[in-house]
Amino acid sequence: MLSEQGAERSREEELAAQEAALKALREKILEWKDTLGCTPSACVTTFGCQMNARDSEKLCGVLKEAGFEICEDEAADLVIYNTCTVRDNANQRVYGRLGHLGAMKKQHPGKRIALCGCMMQEEGVIKRIRESYRFVDLIFGTHNLYRFPELLLRMFDEKEMVVDVWPEGRAIVEKLPVSRKYAFKSGVNIMFGCNNFCTYCIVPYVRGRERSRASAEILKEIEELAASGVSEVMLLGQNVNSYGRGCEGELCFSQLLKEVEKIDGIRRIRFMTSHPKDLSDELIEVMASSEKICDHLHLPVQSGSSRILKLMNRCYSREQYLELVGRLKAAMPDLSLTTDIIVGFPGETEEDIEETISLVEEVKYDNAFTFIYSPRSGTPAAKMPRVMSEEETQKGFDRLLKTVQDCARERVQRFEGRISEALVEGMNEHDASMVTGRLANNLLVHFKGDASMIGSYRRVRLAENKGFYYIGEEV
Ligand code: 5AD
Ligand code: SF4
Repeated sequence: MLSEQGAERSREEELAAQEAALKALREKILEWKDTLGCTPSACVTTFGCQMNARDSEKLCGVLKEAGFEICEDEAADLVIYNTCTVRDNANQRVYGRLGHLGAMKKQHPGKRIALCGCMMQEEGVIKRIRESYRFVDLIFGTHNLYRFPELLLRMFDEKEMVVDVWPEGRAIVEKLPVSRKYAFKSGVNIMFGCNNFCTYCIVPYVRGRERSRASAEILKEIEELAASGVSEVMLLGQNVNSYGRGCEGELCFSQLLKEVEKIDGIRRIRFMTSHPKDLSDELIEVMASSEKICDHLHLPVQSGSSRILKLMNRCYSREQYLELVGRLKAAMPDLSLTTDIIVGFPGETEEDIEETISLVEEVKYDNAFTFIYSPRSGTPAAKMPRVMSEEETQKGFDRLLKTVQDCARERVQRFEGRISEALVEGMNEHDASMVTGRLANNLLVHFKGDASMIGSYRRVRLAENKGFYYIGEEV
């Protein structure tokens, strides 16, 4: 039940339409303020990945410009859930929490509730919300996020639930106001969507085909970020290694990185996510010779069994993955590697899990995110028969998790006593006399300090290994 997309607009028309909507919104928010007797508050709750986190910053940017006070309390006058649908438990969490929001709205009928993000683009979801969560005021997707000012305005003007979800992305529209969570670091979208169709994954169905942003736009955005005090950027895409593919005259990913490297004020460059099949020798060279690209690579393997990798349509074997890791480590001996792993994929047996465990031991990851396979309707794997019972899957998962944790602990140990540069990200959550900093390799270090240090780089001795992080001393 997808709504009409309306007429296609030129980029200029689009920007003008959103600018006008924002102006009208400001009036609405002022009116709301009069009725409430205080500034209306808005809370954006983010589920899922870094791409969603970045989208939420765009939502907050618009909300701030419209006159809302941004808060992190779902008692707010407007609550927006930016949803994820990669695994079913993310969907279930949204439904569960929506129930609570509904109860809050009964107490405060003026409260507004909006839903957006990947889950809204999944088949059947809108129908369920229309039927069971009729108190929701606005639903939109990832493809029309840039029309957020207009969508919000419609929410205020129309009595019925506003649903505007597009099946496909149109042109990439730049220039929404953004409210960054951190003043000193920022995500930067370089591409949207995915063409890989891993058989377990719903992303290509909900986020659509791969579309790269123009490199000139990306570089301009990063220059502006640098001018406003950002020193660390994370380039974001489902498969950054194929950036620019199919776009004539466009830079490829390693060339883009070289250009980002030249931007004054940027001290750290990260990127996510890399698909092993598209990671080129040129990229390894650029990473190894760069002063700014962080010595951390997230390289999802998903499984250590070639048979399962084939069923997953990952387009590499265990041997090819290990060979790639060998090349990366030869070029960058100190590289920190992290990964994603799925357990319980259809057809997977205990022997396959043993292969994954032995791969983890061989690669020696600095960390790994482990997931139990979640069937997503519409994906090829959802129709494949499963071999292991839930219990066997859980046991395999626990064994894998223990191996991952043992490896991570061993890897973290190698830094003890070293002096490293940390970017101070914030105050320590448990000890007000300490700050929390992140090293280039993504490791966290806590050390004595105060709020004036946030956003600055400090040289820290990694004194005490706490398993997955360090207690340090500034030197
Ligand atoms: N079930 C479990 N995990 C999944 N992932 C993607 N789809 C599924 C699924 N259906 C995991 C992959 C991916 C990460 C973002 O989420 O490991 O790399
Ligand atoms: Fe999903 Fe595979 Fe695309 Fe990643 S590369 S988003 S796992 S289909």
